Amino acid sequence: MRSLRTQVGIVGAGPAGLLLAHLLERQGIAAVVLEAKSRSYVEERIRAGVLEQGTIDLLNEAGVGARMMSEGLPHEGIELLFDGTRHRIDLAELTGGRRIMVYGQHEVVKDLIAARLSAEAPLYFEVDAVQVADIDTAEPKIYCRHAGEDMVWTCDFIAGCDGFHGICRTALPDIAAHTFERVYPFAWLGILAKAAPASEELIYASHPHGFALFSMRSPQITRLYLQCSPDDELANWSDERIWSELEVRLASDDGWHPNKGEIIQKGITPMRSFVCEKMQHGRLYLAGDAAHIVPPTGAKGMNLAVSDIRILARSLVQHYLHHDDTGLAHYAENCLKRVWRAEHFSWWMTSMLHRFTDHSPFQQRIQEAELRYFATSRAGATTIAENYVGLPWSD
Ligand code: APR
Ligand code: PHB
Repeated sequence: MRSLRTQVGIVGAGPAGLLLAHLLERQGIAAVVLEAKSRSYVEERIRAGVLEQGTIDLLNEAGVGARMMSEGLPHEGIELLFDGTRHRIDLAELTGGRRIMVYGQHEVVKDLIAARLSAEAPLYFEVDAVQVADIDTAEPKIYCRHAGEDMVWTCDFIAGCDGFHGICRTALPDIAAHTFERVYPFAWLGILAKAAPASEELIYASHPHGFALFSMRSPQITRLYLQCSPDDELANWSDERIWSELEVRLASDDGWHPNKGEIIQKGITPMRSFVCEKMQHGRLYLAGDAAHIVPPTGAKGMNLAVSDIRILARSLVQHYLHHDDTGLAHYAENCLKRVWRAEHFSWWMTSMLHRFTDHSPFQQRIQEAELRYFATSRAGATTIAENYVGLPWSD
């Protein structure tokens, strides 16, 4: 077994793990990133693609925003579509100029991997059998295997950035008592199509057939989603069925409809809200999807991961550079306020825009009245806008 030493051992090379490694590297703090999948897998994994203003600023300040600024699509509004009419939420005007950037999560991942490799800092892909141990001691360890060789990394701290299905959360004792969860009775079928986006802005549609979302990735690629059943299978969704449902759910009275094109990717994503409030035990800290999940309706997943990492990186810098452990002691508490704000917003947007087959006619009318109010009143639209662009950091 090869024995290695680092300051911060990071499990997972998603946006959370890679951004933490980058922010630490800039302060001269040593870290290793250990990722189970291959580089090409993480660089091509299609996920969400909306960056909040605070995320855009942080990536720019950290020196990894250049490609995002040149290739990303800045947006100043979104649209809500129901009863055949589109209602624009003017994000910038309602929030004093804050906006969002449409830039795929895997593009952020590529930029962070490029930064790590150009710094010649340790980053291992295709790492097997990852286990964490001794988290209650001053020398927590990560055991793993890479290229047929067993390794043990002795660290000062471990960051569990290994997503919802990772192993780090399960290393924390007694998490059941600190876990909050809601599983939704629907999923999203998502496609990427080789078609120029027919609208400059995202369109969130509520329709009797179910929710639909029009989004995009580039001037040539449209991203579209349809609410489907959680136990649905891709085999049930031919390209023809997908396009005809999109036509129906996204139809607006002015004749707008999405451009069609070859479907180059299809996937079904279950919808879940989940928070593990115990985000730290001993010297193991959880960040991003390892600690919490939101349904994608509010586009908050990656932004929340960035918010945790901003707090964790700052706390580790305080520890190493200023011998101050206040941030580390209050890590979970400092993250959770923003986590719960985003949990509420994502749950609320999901509840307001999807069809629930178990709703009574009364509940259905209440849902419609709620959507009409938030889409058409300035106060309502401001609530959507300030949450959508992300509230300013509170510190
Ligand atoms: N060992 C090493 N790596 C692991 C392990 C393991 N045992 N288990 C999982 N991983 C890796 C995954 O392969 C993945 O690359 O951890 C990484 C976790 O990355 P993400 O799932 O992208 O999570 P995070 O970095 O927290 O980013 C959150 O991802 O799912 C989206 O909507 C979510 O946008 C949000 C973002
Ligand atoms: C996306 O483009 O993938 C996307 C956009 C907005 C969302 C969710 C996903 O709310």
